[in-house]
Amino acid sequence: MINNILKSFVLVIKKPIGFFNAKPTMASSCVSVVLLLFTLLLGHGLFQLEASKNACRNTHTAQPYRTSYHFQPAMNWMNDPNAPMIYKGIYHLFYQYNPQAAVWNASIVWAHSTSTDLINWTLHDPAMYPSEASDINGCWSGSATILPGGEPAILYTGISSNNKQVQNLAVPKNSSDPYLTEWVKSAENPLMEPPENIDPNSFRDPATAWLGPDGTWRVVIGSEFHDKGLVFLYRSKDFVHWSKAEQPLHSVEGTGMWECVDFFPVSTDSLTGLDTSKFGPNIKHVIKASLFDTKFDCYIIGTYDVNTDKFIPEEGSIDKVTGLRYDYGKFYASKTFFDSANNRRILWAWVNESSSEADDIKKGWSGLQAIPRSLWLDKSGKQLMQWPIVEVERLHGHQVELPSKLLEEGSLLEVTGITAAQADVEISFAVTGFEKAEVLDSSLTNPQLLCSQLGSSVKGALGPFGLLVLASNDLKEYTAVFFRIFKDQDKYAVLMCSDQSRSSLDTANDKTTYGAFVEVDPVHENLSLRSLIDHSIVESFGAGGKACITARVYPTLAIDEETHLYAFNYGTEKVKITSLSAWSMKEARINKIIQQEDHHILMDS
Ligand code: FRU
Repeated sequence: MINNILKSFVLVIKKPIGFFNAKPTMASSCVSVVLLLFTLLLGHGLFQLEASKNACRNTHTAQPYRTSYHFQPAMNWMNDPNAPMIYKGIYHLFYQYNPQAAVWNASIVWAHSTSTDLINWTLHDPAMYPSEASDINGCWSGSATILPGGEPAILYTGISSNNKQVQNLAVPKNSSDPYLTEWVKSAENPLMEPPENIDPNSFRDPATAWLGPDGTWRVVIGSEFHDKGLVFLYRSKDFVHWSKAEQPLHSVEGTGMWECVDFFPVSTDSLTGLDTSKFGPNIKHVIKASLFDTKFDCYIIGTYDVNTDKFIPEEGSIDKVTGLRYDYGKFYASKTFFDSANNRRILWAWVNESSSEADDIKKGWSGLQAIPRSLWLDKSGKQLMQWPIVEVERLHGHQVELPSKLLEEGSLLEVTGITAAQADVEISFAVTGFEKAEVLDSSLTNPQLLCSQLGSSVKGALGPFGLLVLASNDLKEYTAVFFRIFKDQDKYAVLMCSDQSRSSLDTANDKTTYGAFVEVDPVHENLSLRSLIDHSIVESFGAGGKACITARVYPTLAIDEETHLYAFNYGTEKVKITSLSAWSMKEARINKIIQQEDHHILMDS
């Protein structure tokens, strides 16, 4: 298959001008003090750099919001994850990256990093940049498909010379190179052009394609028609010539443009992930759309028949306000891939800043990737579950554990002995006193509104209880991640909130409070909460991954060693901490090289 496809390739992707020439704007004061063991592995374009110690944390006074174990480039703008995959044992992450500035603009390229553990990353030259009529105005998001022979192919959106969104193909120049450093674009590009009646600015982001038992490839592309969000389905016999199916695979009125759509199978009877071309019994399918209007990543679960190409939703609907979401905070343009080495489906997503563009320019960078998450179908079959990939635990440093402890009304319990600005914490609560639960006001069923109205300071009966993270000594600053429990007819509704309103004394940032209902029975199960804390990001997982909330915060006091972590209960009813484990997190090695000119190597903090 790949040979046939390759025949149509003539264009060699070149290195973009200026990628390594961009001037670092951030503090590079650590350059002179860091002792480096530098290995430059020529031949396959791989640079590997190892610091002799956890370098550069001292620059955090200048860059307190750089993270230590989240994926981010050394500088400048990053948005969507593109074409994540595993190939010959190497994980690849491409990403929308502006080599020239800390803001998005038309200079976006496909930057490229590789890893053996999804946590430590090595930077390569960009894999693609605008070079042909089919993408001269932009190489936008796309996905990888592993073809039957094992080689990958990338479908991506190009902004053509006449400013239309078109779909293009690229394949590795040398597929025996596990690092896949060079890509060639098809001479047949563009392979798909905006359908008639569709705005040429609303046709983008091809997902991973799947192969039916009939030997035909299918792929979906996001679009909109008169405010109806939709996914077009295309079919191909050879991966090069594609034709549009008469009906979109799915559409929902009033949801606007669907970006970065994803379509994949999930197992109904096991936690293992499935290859995108897997069909049969005990399988459901998921459609995910990133809603341009609200910046929510929403999904629906349904049944897909590969013979008729019909998708029938089973639970809920993609919705601007109340639909199922991967994450109820900041988490956008996500994409999954099947990790065939570990039989799991992994979710990547872009987490943007909550600071102003002027502040992003000042700090010289913008955008993180969330810690990759394993994703599977909950045993209820009604929602997905997510959990940070197990590899993140390799960064666990010093651990503290607290024995079980009763938290009376108004309790604040400090967790000491770990680096609270760079930590992983898991806590579990047993709740009693359900007869005291407040009744859920049936007119207030939007969880985000409920969380922002009540915040963490309004006392309830069962809650708020949870964690205060990135807290300053005097509690002038903190981010509160917590639960409240309400009586809701014949059951209990568990609300999970991430309240950023007190996260920073700086008033310029977006401090929206986020919230979600967690489908859990608190009478029979303990309520667990895990937060990954990394200087300016807090990723929280409620009830083992049933509800996830990611927040970006910029404390002015709770920085590095000045940061504290607390468990709290401000509800009138006691709650019991049944377990609490917290770990200092080590720094990951991520994209360390930012400039390589005449053997001068600069490192980022
Ligand atoms: C989503 C998105 C995609 C597009 C890319 C451009 O964040 O708008 O739809 O392909 O970013 O960078």
